[in-house]
Amino acid sequence: MTVCSMAVPFVQDWDLVQTLGEGAYGEVRLLVNRQTEEAVAVKVIDTSQAKECAENVKKEVCVHKMLNHQNIVRFFGHRKEGPTVYLFLEYCTGGELFDRIEPDVGMTAKDAHRFFQQLVAAVEYLHSMGITHRDIKPENILLDDKDNLKLTDFGLATMFRFKGRERPLNRLCGTLPYVAPELLSQTEYKAQPADIWACGIVLTAMLAGELPWDQPSEICQEYSDWLQKKTYLPPWKKIQPMPLCLLSKLLLAKPEARITIADIQKDRWYTQGVKQPSGSLSSGASKHLRADGAVISGANSDDKMQFSSSQPDLAAGGREATLLISQMDGQVSFSQPTKPEHMLLGSQLLGTPGASQTPWQRLVRRLTRFFTTVSADASLASLKDACEGLALRYKLTCTKQVTVSTLDKRNNKLIFKVHLLEMNHRVLLDFRLSKGDGLEFKRLFLKIKQKLCDIISTQKVSHPVI
Ligand code: ADE
Repeated sequence: MTVCSMAVPFVQDWDLVQTLGEGAYGEVRLLVNRQTEEAVAVKVIDTSQAKECAENVKKEVCVHKMLNHQNIVRFFGHRKEGPTVYLFLEYCTGGELFDRIEPDVGMTAKDAHRFFQQLVAAVEYLHSMGITHRDIKPENILLDDKDNLKLTDFGLATMFRFKGRERPLNRLCGTLPYVAPELLSQTEYKAQPADIWACGIVLTAMLAGELPWDQPSEICQEYSDWLQKKTYLPPWKKIQPMPLCLLSKLLLAKPEARITIADIQKDRWYTQGVKQPSGSLSSGASKHLRADGAVISGANSDDKMQFSSSQPDLAAGGREATLLISQMDGQVSFSQPTKPEHMLLGSQLLGTPGASQTPWQRLVRRLTRFFTTVSADASLASLKDACEGLALRYKLTCTKQVTVSTLDKRNNKLIFKVHLLEMNHRVLLDFRLSKGDGLEFKRLFLKIKQKLCDIISTQKVSHPVI
């Protein structure tokens, strides 16, 4: 599907359907079994790049296969072919949590509350197993068809407790805006408070649509402001007092003073959730804003808050990720043992570019893309102009693929690829982050989209979607 992707692997009747994402390690692809029609995600890791890579992957496999929890992506198995390792994982149809965060806005407090409870459930379970994730961030958090949160990517995870004995950690790893301050200021740190800090940054991103700082060191003005309790500044001023009170306990600089999971579970906002006046965006049916500005209904539109930490049990081999597909009259119909309105072919996608894609492509909900009304060449020319207008470096890396690179507002590298796909006589521009902060990527996507508004197709889809 992707013009410049690696060779399509043929793994025991599993068909490659689409590339779901890419990172430093390689790619994650969607595979569908020809016989059983099950959908799984496969993480493809090229271990020839760095000599420690093979060891890291072994560790990732070893950690991930121990885990069995409803808020952690299921690990189905792995396969090694020369230097390439394939990790078979539960396919999460809801995409990344990151895609539910509107830049500078966040999401409804109700959705953030529910996701935060599930994130804490995942981290509580991990810690009970003696494992620390060490890279908790929205890009490593996926959602299933019912908007249940699933923590993924155990590439940096490690065991911090074995047979009841805890060891201090010393490896400086993770993603700077999410790392706890003690990682930067001390040689050794405790595992659990560092993961809890990262959960606090994720909660801030969900409630305010921005990351509070580049890194938690006093050379960073925003971090100094937080230490001085200047909560009249953004992002804090956008956050209600109750969740802000929890954040002040999650983001305590001293790891020994930081709130524990047991105490998070006693926090007032954590237990009582969101009480909002009716009529506001956040009340009633759960809604969130998409990158393209549309408001869509959340899967959990139940008015009553759910306080139970028990989630649907997916222990039966990740059947929730299974899509049963049957071919009829050249059309594909999907049947899933869940409510049809939760499926990707549901009404929420009508009128969006995805609705006129092939059935397989419709499996993947991507928000950072649009159709144009002009040819591929004209689309490329307009994209080039838009990038130049925004002082972005534009490079044609393949006939149908452009790599755009820049520095974000915090001077961090931001690299993304734009794939051009010609389908149904239209051209789809599909933007994918390769490196950098996901929120910055989305902000930039919206700026480019704004610049290309004259050539963006607004055509609605008239054919019925199952
Ligand atoms: N992107 C990365 N991993 C994924 C998965 N397991 N399911 C869906 N999208 C993904």
